[in-house]
Amino acid sequence: MAYYRDYLALDKILDAQTLESDKHGQHAHDEMLFIVTHQAFELWFKQVMFELRSVIDTLNVPYVAEAAVATCHARLQRVNKIMELATNQFSILETMTPPDFMDFRAFLNPASGFQSAQFRVLEIALGLPEQKRVLKHYSDAMDPRDRAIIEQARQMTSLFTVVEKWLEKMPFMEASGFTFWQAYRQAVVDMLDRDRAEVRTLAEAEHRDPAEALAQIDGIEDGFHGLFDEQRYSEMLTSGVRRLSQRATHAVLFIATYRNEPLLQIPYRFIDAVTELDKLVSLWRFRHTLMVSRMIGMRVGTGGSSGHDYLMQTAMKQRVFDDITAMNSFLIPAMYIPSLPQELAQRLQFVNEART
Ligand code: HEM
Repeated sequence: MAYYRDYLALDKILDAQTLESDKHGQHAHDEMLFIVTHQAFELWFKQVMFELRSVIDTLNVPYVAEAAVATCHARLQRVNKIMELATNQFSILETMTPPDFMDFRAFLNPASGFQSAQFRVLEIALGLPEQKRVLKHYSDAMDPRDRAIIEQARQMTSLFTVVEKWLEKMPFMEASGFTFWQAYRQAVVDMLDRDRAEVRTLAEAEHRDPAEALAQIDGIEDGFHGLFDEQRYSEMLTSGVRRLSQRATHAVLFIATYRNEPLLQIPYRFIDAVTELDKLVSLWRFRHTLMVSRMIGMRVGTGGSSGHDYLMQTAMKQRVFDDITAMNSFLIPAMYIPSLPQELAQRLQFVNEART
């Protein structure tokens, strides 16, 4: 029979807070909160990875059933709730004042969150490409045990890879046909023309020069056409401007545009949860960075990075699914969305009327 204390291994968990300041004979009251907060984060990272691996494994098969996508969506939603909660936890740690932190900071050297293996595994499992890393030698700061864990994570399939493969296999893409894509492209071009007209009208009313805003719209349109040009797309992949394959990108556009069709609702919610997770990881980074600058100002980190500057850059640059988020520039208002070919519209219903 299980007993509460044993089942939860409380002897281990509740006996795992050893204050460095006590070891040095200079008890710092707030070090307890510092340790417990980090441990709570690490426990949540563990749960996040548990969910994420199951999502990756579920999608890492030749054929992904509709119900499996729904399960993946539910698990990612859980991950997202955890990331929100984890980010809010920083405010508890901020009840510690910067001078209180100074009482024990020196005892922590050279330990740092920089050495959190679980956080690195999370980044790798999401699919953060090594080229995007601000500091490429991040694992040098770790001991052989943690380096082995990271190496193992690198050998595993990432969320980015399975999401890309799943998108590439979207069955409705073929059925949509060339005429449909032409109509869709025209609808986006028309929408951008309406944006231009609106910019001109507003600028005229406010006596402003619309050139900058118009140039931005031109850039969006040019980027949009690039999505359909094989040569240009492969150049963007080579130069690293884009990472998601052309076919997967078209699937994102298709799903987002026709997200209200019954069979596309779950895929759309799943993609939305993926980009939400990407945003929440960035939010975690920003929130952590703000707390760090409050605690130590512009001082270098105990892990040897530049501190605030380094962390700020990771928050800005280390997004994994920004290729998907970028597609939101091309969303068309419902009334301008081209109708789907009839055969395809029928296939996207849950009930095939011909069979009833
Ligand atoms: C007083 C509180 C904290 C301070 C002053 C602080 C400071 C820093 C600094 C300066 C860095 C940059 C690396 C370096 O050390 O040079 C860093 C990285 C990191 N910290 Fe914290 N931290 C604090 C709390 C936390 C907490 C509660 C967590 C939760 C697990 C955490 C997790 C991390 C992680 C994962 C990194 C690596 C980020 C990356 O490389 O992208 N930190 N921290």
